[in-house]
Amino acid sequence: MKYGYFDDPLREYVITRPDTPLPWINYLGCQAYFGIISNTAGGYSFYRDARLRRITRYRYNNAPYDFGGRYIYLRDDASGEFWSPSWQPTRRKLDDYSCRHGLGYTIIGSKYQGIEARTRYFVPLDENLEIWQTTVTNHRSQPAELSVFSLVEFCLWDAQDDSTNFQRNFSIGEVEIEDGVIYHKTEYRERRDHFAFFACSEKTAGFDTQRETFLGSYRGWDNPAVVESGHSGNSLAHGWAPIGSHHVKLFLPPGASRQIVLVLGYQENPRDEKFDPPDSQILNKKAAKAALAKYLLPSVADVSFEKLRRYWDELLGLCQVDTPDVHTNRMVNIWNAYQCMATFNMSRSASFFESGIGRGLGFRDSNQDLLGFVHMVPSRARERIVDLAATQLPTGGAYHQYQPLTKQGNNDIGSGFNDDPHWLILGISAYIKETGDWGILDEPVPFDNAPGSERPLYQHLQRSFRYTLDRLGPHGLPLIGRADWNDCLNLNCFSDSPGQSFQTTTNKDGKVAESIFIAALFIHAGRELAKIASHRGLPAECASYLAEVSKMEATIRKHGWDGEWFLRAYDDFGRKVGSKECAEGKIFIETQGFCTLAGIGLEDGTAERALEATRKLLATKHGIVLQQPAYSKYYLELGEISSYPPGYKENAGIFCHNNPWVIIGETRVGNGDAAHDYYTRINPSAREEISEVHRCEPYVYAQMIAGADAPTHGEAKNSWLTGTAAWNYFAITQWILGIRTDFDGLRIAPVIPGGWSGFKATRKFRSTIYQIEVQRAGSGNQVSLEVDGKPVQGNLVPLPPAGTKTVAVKATLR
Ligand code: GLC
Ligand code: GLC
Repeated sequence: MKYGYFDDPLREYVITRPDTPLPWINYLGCQAYFGIISNTAGGYSFYRDARLRRITRYRYNNAPYDFGGRYIYLRDDASGEFWSPSWQPTRRKLDDYSCRHGLGYTIIGSKYQGIEARTRYFVPLDENLEIWQTTVTNHRSQPAELSVFSLVEFCLWDAQDDSTNFQRNFSIGEVEIEDGVIYHKTEYRERRDHFAFFACSEKTAGFDTQRETFLGSYRGWDNPAVVESGHSGNSLAHGWAPIGSHHVKLFLPPGASRQIVLVLGYQENPRDEKFDPPDSQILNKKAAKAALAKYLLPSVADVSFEKLRRYWDELLGLCQVDTPDVHTNRMVNIWNAYQCMATFNMSRSASFFESGIGRGLGFRDSNQDLLGFVHMVPSRARERIVDLAATQLPTGGAYHQYQPLTKQGNNDIGSGFNDDPHWLILGISAYIKETGDWGILDEPVPFDNAPGSERPLYQHLQRSFRYTLDRLGPHGLPLIGRADWNDCLNLNCFSDSPGQSFQTTTNKDGKVAESIFIAALFIHAGRELAKIASHRGLPAECASYLAEVSKMEATIRKHGWDGEWFLRAYDDFGRKVGSKECAEGKIFIETQGFCTLAGIGLEDGTAERALEATRKLLATKHGIVLQQPAYSKYYLELGEISSYPPGYKENAGIFCHNNPWVIIGETRVGNGDAAHDYYTRINPSAREEISEVHRCEPYVYAQMIAGADAPTHGEAKNSWLTGTAAWNYFAITQWILGIRTDFDGLRIAPVIPGGWSGFKATRKFRSTIYQIEVQRAGSGNQVSLEVDGKPVQGNLVPLPPAGTKTVAVKATLR
């Protein structure tokens, strides 16, 4: 069952009924001012940091779902009836409801008793504000007298404090009203230099800024007293809960239409220019007024909307493919790339599932997010790499996350995850391959942000690699530390008290438990580092990396192979995890995926066997589960993984993030059919038909789909902010379609399904546009290349002379 459809030419997903299984959201903003917006206008806004600069409130885990948003109420002043064109919060039955989620904008509207109202929400480029353009049309044969009420509820900035510290917060709310513009200035009198403003293009009949006046004490958002009565209270918030609401009266003859523009914005003032006059406590509104003078004009709003569309046209234009599969095309050309921007911007902070409070930018996550983002805005990828590396510790280890506003690392969700350092190597190598910017390695970057500790970025990579060699366990495999990629495989935690964090509790000294996953990651990252060292003219160093890599490979063969598949780990007692010897959790996906992705076992068939075991024991029609059999009880020595009920999350859920590792593994053994089949099983567009099962948005990946052990097998959760976005983008574009960036040029090495006759692609790479045409002439993956009509040996398209605009590549598969 579907709840809408893809409008591919417009690059929109159109939701045609408001009661989607879960709120289906979109993101507004792509630089500094952000918001999430659901298909019924729920959501919130923030400036850069969803925790520390929250502009509006949202009620997570509310019943009903999805309260707090960018609301419009319409009231028929003749009958007194009122409704919300976005369905929520009033939930009246509407005609012609639709929500169009587009790239950086959302349009929601409907008709009710002959009155149509649609609102386009977006954040203009390079501005710290959002625009709501509401168009109201009277389709009746009679004139209509209407009242329009806008509504936002302000957050008192720190979202954590805002939702807990009521003894203080009920007394600090402050606003100013000037010329109908509502200014929210809580805490501005003291240490904040920022405020929010909410303005309306039309003459207002009234306003409200105190929630209690607007709603009434015991009423909900679905039935506000002010809307019911048709009269604003002109309330001034002192303490309690500041809101912003305008009241506009509209008289619409039959057939007439009017547009109202609302602008919600964020403004920071220099400290010494906070007040106007300077010795007063009155906001200096100059900059905000200038922005409003511009953006309240519908024509300016339209122009900036067009700019936003062009921005996305250009970004998506960097890589466009035309394959025989509509789901592949749609995801690569539109939604997967778009999701990669969201994960780059948000990391795991703000979605319907991530509250914006708990997590900043993860070290491991953000490095992986680069894989799907780096081709879009390399300069921002570069900045991110430097920020991440600056939080690296002198040991080569890492804080697990940092706060985007302060850029300082913190231990709130632990440190000592022994995989972390290697993702930096992969992030940087992806960046250099994309851009050829070797100079980044000489960039001076501090450790732990300590002034004076700056070293060339290259030294950070050396320390990342060294970190593992300094932490080998009894089998010569890497010690796992707090956990590796799997945050929930906590082999040193041994937590038996409720409420302890699995991420920060340690009861063992960590000298025994080892990770075969980190071993594979080390090998993969080590080979990249060796190439980088060689390019820097350090052959001895390159050789030493390769020697360590070979040694580790031998160790995996000796201590990391279980007979039919790769082991997962050794626990604190030195016992195997992910082995046929285990009662539960006999086989894990991570090592089957990452070992084969890293090319381990390609020469002797072990890679194939591991993939075969994966197919037999882990693959389901909804994707590949994380391990089998699921843990049926809590294992003290394994930690959080066994805390989840079977089939959910890391306990045998389909953790979509690691499915592409197997996909890449399949391409490495030349199995394009299997690779694309796995790709399709978790492709949200291909799952659109079963939206009632999948339940999350059909246009973006979710972190998890419930596994076969779960009663709700096939149900997705944690959509949007997941490493799945980058890895699937990487797997489909670089490994299945095989358009692969490399240090010395673009490689063309497709491993596509046998049934495909070929495909076409356009890829911009280092300022040149590659027009790629792949044709199948035989059933294999052997590539013959023709570049601008001339045959080329191998599968690498050599870099063209500087300034070359386009290159035509013809690849024939035999
Ligand atoms: C979450 C985390 C990621 C981790 C994964 C597996 O997606 O953000 O860092 O690797 O879970 O536990
Ligand atoms: C929990 C989740 C995991 C996530 C981690 C982040 O352990 O199961 O997916 O990575 O929290 O701290």
